Amino acid sequence: MRHPANVAVRLVDYRPADFLIDAVALDISLDRTASKVVATLSLRRNPKGAPGAPLSLDGDDLTLVGVKLDGRPLGPQDYTAAPDHLLLEKVPDGPFTLEIETRVDPSANTQLSGLYRSGSAYCTQCEAEGFRRITYFLDRPDVLSVYTTRVEGDKGEAPILLSNGNPVKSGNLPDGRHYAVWRDPFPKPSYLFALVGGDLGALRDSFTTMSGRKIDLAIYVEHGKEARATYAMDALKRSMRWDEEKFGREYDLDVFNIVAVSDFNMGAMENKGLNIFNDKYVLASPETATDGDYAGIEGVIAHEYFHNWTGNRITCRDWFQLCLKEGLTVFRDQEFSADMRSRAVERIGDVRGLRLAQFPEDGGPLAHPVRPEVYHEINNFYTATVYEKGAEIVRMLRTLIGDETFRRGMDIYFERFDGTAATVEDYLSCFAEASGRDLSHFALWYSQAGTPILSTEGAYDPQAKTFSLTLKQHTPPTPGQSEKKPLVVPVAFALFGENGEKLELASPDARADELARGLIELTDAERKITFAGVASRPVVSALRGFSAPVRLEPAPESADLEKLLACDDDPFNRWQAAQSLALRAIFARVDAAKKGAQTPQAPGFIGALRTILAGADADPAFAAQALSLPSEIDLAREAGHDVDPDVLFSARYGLREEIGRALGADAEPIYRRLSDAGPYSPDAASAGRRMLKALALDLVAAGDPEKGSALARSQFAAAGNMTDRLGALTLLALLGGEAREAAFAAFYEQYKGDALVLDKWFSLQATIPEPATTKRVVDLMRHPDFSLTNPNRVRSLIGAFSNANLTGFHALDGSGYDLLTRIVLELDPKNPQLAARLLSALRSWRTLEPRRRGLIEERLRHIAAQGNLSPDTKDIATRALS
Ligand code: ARG
Ligand code: ZN
Repeated sequence: MRHPANVAVRLVDYRPADFLIDAVALDISLDRTASKVVATLSLRRNPKGAPGAPLSLDGDDLTLVGVKLDGRPLGPQDYTAAPDHLLLEKVPDGPFTLEIETRVDPSANTQLSGLYRSGSAYCTQCEAEGFRRITYFLDRPDVLSVYTTRVEGDKGEAPILLSNGNPVKSGNLPDGRHYAVWRDPFPKPSYLFALVGGDLGALRDSFTTMSGRKIDLAIYVEHGKEARATYAMDALKRSMRWDEEKFGREYDLDVFNIVAVSDFNMGAMENKGLNIFNDKYVLASPETATDGDYAGIEGVIAHEYFHNWTGNRITCRDWFQLCLKEGLTVFRDQEFSADMRSRAVERIGDVRGLRLAQFPEDGGPLAHPVRPEVYHEINNFYTATVYEKGAEIVRMLRTLIGDETFRRGMDIYFERFDGTAATVEDYLSCFAEASGRDLSHFALWYSQAGTPILSTEGAYDPQAKTFSLTLKQHTPPTPGQSEKKPLVVPVAFALFGENGEKLELASPDARADELARGLIELTDAERKITFAGVASRPVVSALRGFSAPVRLEPAPESADLEKLLACDDDPFNRWQAAQSLALRAIFARVDAAKKGAQTPQAPGFIGALRTILAGADADPAFAAQALSLPSEIDLAREAGHDVDPDVLFSARYGLREEIGRALGADAEPIYRRLSDAGPYSPDAASAGRRMLKALALDLVAAGDPEKGSALARSQFAAAGNMTDRLGALTLLALLGGEAREAAFAAFYEQYKGDALVLDKWFSLQATIPEPATTKRVVDLMRHPDFSLTNPNRVRSLIGAFSNANLTGFHALDGSGYDLLTRIVLELDPKNPQLAARLLSALRSWRTLEPRRRGLIEERLRHIAAQGNLSPDTKDIATRALS
């Protein structure tokens, strides 16, 4: 494997391309080991480029067959060709065509970037820089071209031939071959190109747009799995309608195709008119998919569809602007899910996701701004920061300027930048115009990395009947950014009085609109607001709805949290109050354990949980969220330094038992009542009841493991859907013993032919919180169903072990670290993107206690010192050590 020079790409170095490619005609003849690619490019000089510059095209691992300029074959003296570039020193000044013939080997493509094979199908993945693995090109997002693609293949092997845009024609050829021609009239960058050839089944449907155009929809899957795409199809149609209703965006081609493949590095890809998906985000049936899987499918289908406007019609000028399409599109898919399901539960889930994946990134050596300023390997910047924090910035913008103004700004954006490759500045200018506000200070959110820490301090004056609230912010340093400035932080807040009533706000220190909306804009390091006419010491509900991606420290006092849990009308902060109480109770146990003191009990907290449980029927999903203890991963993040996973585990486990002994009896009738559900339906309300049922079972088991095990065994055997079956198996896995092994064996027997279900089987075993799990994972790597070539399988075993098994992965003997190191190095030459992503599980290593820190540092140095490491893995190892 050849690796390109490891060069830094910088935002400040951005220059427009020297040439433009107005049209591309591709002729691709599929062959397992030698696919023939003829690309005819209509080129002209870019008036904005460097005058007289040579034509330099990107390539990666390409074999050149021949080049023609305006139809005339060129000789080797006319160009320099290498696997990674094609250089023509002299080209005409006027428009010209360049015909380039290359050969690529899809079977040897284990990176899953460019043209590769997934199962027996041919497919492509071009974002970010995969198109250059198909043909030489100006492979950058600001070069937009109209594509016509002719795909040719064997009729038996590939009866289905797809590409972007609308079908133009198709026909038979000699020797059992056939072809199809596709034309995409919308100019697009090369990263949105896609092609699929294979023997696939299809689920077909149609959608009539708001202007009355009928769009043919199809989801292509493995034969026999068509019915499992029903939910995805439904989600697609709901997404299409939602984008019309909420953003006025209509679909623009005559067809919309989705193809599900089983070997895919990421979740899915928004190629124009031809989305390609990891089949995990398409296929679902009650017997094989959990409620979480259904929600994931709905979200990812929506996400990729919404990219048609935010990403495709308006794309990114360069990869530094990735958040322009990703952050905005995540925001849009989160809003869609909130509208389809419960807004409060969606918000809680999104914030949990942000804290789980983005906060550790932002607080460790891999921290980077939402719009980075430098990268060595762009594939390593498809991060939680760019996606999830990027979405939070869009959300804050909407919060600050209000829903209607936000929508007007979006309309301006679509109107003004349609058909272009835009920047974050372009985007913000639309909202500055719509709102009449100067957004230059707000824009700092895009360039300053790190999670701000927000603190609130209240002081009540009983004589004056005033309450002073002091808000402070500061952002800890991140790599390359030691000095941080104050940001624009929208702090949604409310004050509650003695009887839990919400107080009217009056203060000379805040603008009338801030008081009316309950939204303080913190723009300096500190702001003090004194409220008048406050009859008694109030309780502050701050950062309602998680109005900014910050850490709120410290949490309010326990008595105030209990009050908020009871009276706050912001469901997010009610949930947050329960979480904060749980964290406090667990850390009290941690402290006691460290001091050798007696284990503290948490009667106030348990009383609060009892109340939630008693009222759980009103909103089962919310109750389940509020009753769930923070995970060990949450605890490690909240602890922040000198983390000892074993101590955190014991403290959490101990509290779980205490709660179970107190509430198990209350939980059992709830469990029994919820067990009589009718046939499975994936809707949010039914899913919420199943979530509460699983929680109730866990409470029973926490207090009485024998009883819990018996109930779990019968639920496992009788379950009518995967959510209940996997829920039972999860509990049995925790309880251990023979029942566990029997259940795993039965599960395997039942689902061994179904890759997506087997992934769950691997994952669940990898997350058993026991010292013996490392050995189990090593054994599972030798299982005939394990394979390093399928990313889902690798993630399900190795990813789950290293990211979701705190005690197992961080075993003190270093065995977990050795395992990860071995896999990363073995995988790196085959699939560097996947190897690099696995390695990023070590990103928070500096927060561990010294011994584990030392063990990880050794492994990181060992990896970084390897010769011929891919740029992907080298970049992560180097930055992790920085
Ligand atoms: N644009 C895709 C999405 O968000 C992700 C593609 C990422 N690909 C990659 N090679 N990093 O939906
Ligand atoms: Zn995306």
